[in-house]
Amino acid sequence: MKKIAILTSGGDAPGMNACVRACVRYAIAKDVDVYGVERGYVGLLNNKINFMSTRSVSDIVHRGGTILKTARCPEFIDVEYQQQAAETLQAYGIDSLIVIGGDGSFRGAKDLSDNCGINVVAIPATIDNDLDYTDFTIGFDTSVNTVLNAINNLRDTMGSHDRVSLLEVMGRKCGDIALYAALAGGAEFCLTPEVPYNIDEIAKTLVKSRKRGKTSNMIIFAEGAGDRDEICRRLEDHTGLSVKTTTLGYVQRGGSPTMADRVLASRMAVKAVDLMIEGKTNRAIGVKDNNIFDMDISEALAFEHRFNHELYKVMNILAR
Ligand code: ADP
Ligand code: F6P
Repeated sequence: MKKIAILTSGGDAPGMNACVRACVRYAIAKDVDVYGVERGYVGLLNNKINFMSTRSVSDIVHRGGTILKTARCPEFIDVEYQQQAAETLQAYGIDSLIVIGGDGSFRGAKDLSDNCGINVVAIPATIDNDLDYTDFTIGFDTSVNTVLNAINNLRDTMGSHDRVSLLEVMGRKCGDIALYAALAGGAEFCLTPEVPYNIDEIAKTLVKSRKRGKTSNMIIFAEGAGDRDEICRRLEDHTGLSVKTTTLGYVQRGGSPTMADRVLASRMAVKAVDLMIEGKTNRAIGVKDNNIFDMDISEALAFEHRFNHELYKVMNILAR
């Protein structure tokens, strides 16, 4: 009987549970035994590996977070620990591992394959959408929808006080959450790490918008886009308007996954299990033009950062 293990690693993302559920149930349907590793690579080092049944993943498809728990495991960059992890898997008769996580987790997976001979398939799950080989990562859609709810709430209160709202969203060095939320939320400005911006110009546009009769404004600010407090201070100085900052924080990493994330997670899981059954290794699952595909993990990680500048232009046109 073939045995595979699954772990979730790095920052959690809504839809990880839907992915775990699909991996477990699809593998069992294909006569494969499945084991869940607790807390990512930490669980491989601490021998936290549990047999999973179809019932182990009941009632989780709609839940954010990850029932397998997740963790960061800094020592895993060291080959000595990777070998310890591989030995743990081998002790259970497991030769194949599905890793669900972001780029750091992908690097750990690749090392387990390259240095220790474990067959690995990696599934992209991070709210940041910063894995450039794939159109979308699991969790991104849910996160943007959470930001949209926050924008709706902020509009109510900012409009009542004639204020400018600056909403900081996550994403590390990637501006995708900010861009998609700004476009879908009808924001007027979107500050991201990928596009240079001029605060004086933004201040002028804000003042003009007030002259045209606008009474409140929405700016979406990606966390990697610069010094937020300095930007706020300068905007207030240059416009005389009241600029109120909201940092959404971890709220945007939790919550029930959207249909899009649940379906994406399930489709990617099926592909990953099929590859494991075929005995493939070092494969990253992605989605391109709504088709699920796989490619070499090293090639996937080597993609240059992409940003949808066309969509950014559209966002700006629609904002005026
Ligand atoms: P994410 O997977 O969300 O990008 P991290 O960057 O924190 O999150 O990575 C998750 C874990 O993956 C790390 O705590 C570490 O255990 C492992 N990892 C990250 N980078 C490497 C690497 N270069 N080699 C081996 N393991 C790594
Ligand atoms: O990668 C997901 C993410 O939520 C980023 O958007 C954010 O910068 C980071 O993780 C926060 O990480 P931590 O959980 O270590 O605070």
